[in-house]
Parts: sequence; C-alpha cells; structure tokens
Amino acid sequence: MKFFVDTAEIDAIAELNDLGMVDGVTTNPSLIMKSGRDILEVTKEICDLVDGPVSAEVVATKAEDMIAEGRKLAGIADNIAVKVPLTWDGLKACKVLSSEGNMVNVTLCFSANQALLAAKVGATFISPFIGRLDDIDIDGMDLIADIRLIYDNYGYDTQILAASIRTVNHVTESARIGADVITAPPGVIRKLAEHPLTDNGLAVFMADWAKTGQKIL
Ligand code: E4P
Repeated sequence: MKFFVDTAEIDAIAELNDLGMVDGVTTNPSLIMKSGRDILEVTKEICDLVDGPVSAEVVATKAEDMIAEGRKLAGIADNIAVKVPLTWDGLKACKVLSSEGNMVNVTLCFSANQALLAAKVGATFISPFIGRLDDIDIDGMDLIADIRLIYDNYGYDTQILAASIRTVNHVTESARIGADVITAPPGVIRKLAEHPLTDNGLAVFMADWAKTGQKIL
C-alpha cells in the first residue's frame, strides 16, 4: 500500500520523505490556507521534494474553468495530479484532463456510485473520505470495501486513495480491504509507530540495563 502525506507543510513532508515513507502528497484548499503559503510556490517545492504524485486541487466550479486551472497546476511539475471535486462538472474536467495525459485525483467521494463514475471518466485516483463519513455516523470503511469490490469486479485501474484518515485504525482497515493508497496527516503516520506495550517494554529493559552497570559505548 502506498503512503501519501496529507499536508502542505514542507518540514513534515521532508522528515517523512527522508525515511522513505512518502509515495506522494495530497493537498487541498484548506491545507494550503493552513500552510499560509502561495499555492503555486508551495506546490512546486513539494514536487521538487518528492518523486511521487502531488495532488493540487482546482477551485473553480465550472468544468471549463476547472480544466484551465488544472492545466496551469499540471504545468508546475510532471508529478502533479490535478484534483477535481466529484461533481458533474468535475467529472467533465476529469475526462478532458485525463485524456490529455494528466494524472487526475477525483476528490470528495462519498458513495460507490460516485466512485464508479470517476473510474468511467479515467480518474487516476478516487478519494473516498472515510473520516467525514464517520462524522455523520456512516462507516467510512464500508465505502472503501464497496469500491474495492466494484473496481475489482470490472477491472477498473483507478486507484483507491483512502482519504480523510483520522486514526491509525483507518490505516489498518484500509490495508486489510486493499486500498491502493492512504493519505494521512503526518501525525497519524507517526502514531503508526506507537504501542503502549512497546513503551512499557522499553521502560523495563532500560531499568534492568541500569542495574547491570554496563555501557555499550
Ligand atoms: C484528501 O485528499 C483530503 O485532503 C483529506 O484527506 C481530507 O481530510 P479531512 O476530512 O480530515 O479534512
């Protein structure tokens, strides 16, 4: 399973990238706002830093304008994936932008039927939002499982990019179901390394080691 980082914070991306944990990056207008950076500048910096796909989102709502914005964003670097919302206009924009050879990430997906349409129009990635479904008491993981089943039934090669990941369990479940990619905030990726039994075990080892009076270096 590929790991994308869901942030526009350069330092956080760089730290994870140095560890070989970054297969790509996703941004959105809210993340750009939080970074306080200019979208074109920060996106270029991210693209220079990582080899994998970097999603940059259009903000227009009409297909024609989304296509124009998408072409501009795609011009930033070869590894840009143009992100369009899962609206009718977004699907039209996806069709044109993907036909032109661009990677397209169709975002804000909340149903299996929406995912089916995204695959039909040539999306490279479909982004079902798990956490935001959980927020309204719908199990977001069920959507990932439904899309996996449907895509496999028909051999669609659109990659399932499990998004709006808020917990480490979302990561485990996405991997169990067979999502192609997860995108998670840096904090969630760091938490994957944590376990209370690791902390307790380490404390016991350190206490016992101190009793030996020995040193390795
Ligand atoms: C994905 O591409 C989105 O940027 C992101 O996962 C949304 O997550 P949120 O629902 O936590 O804002």
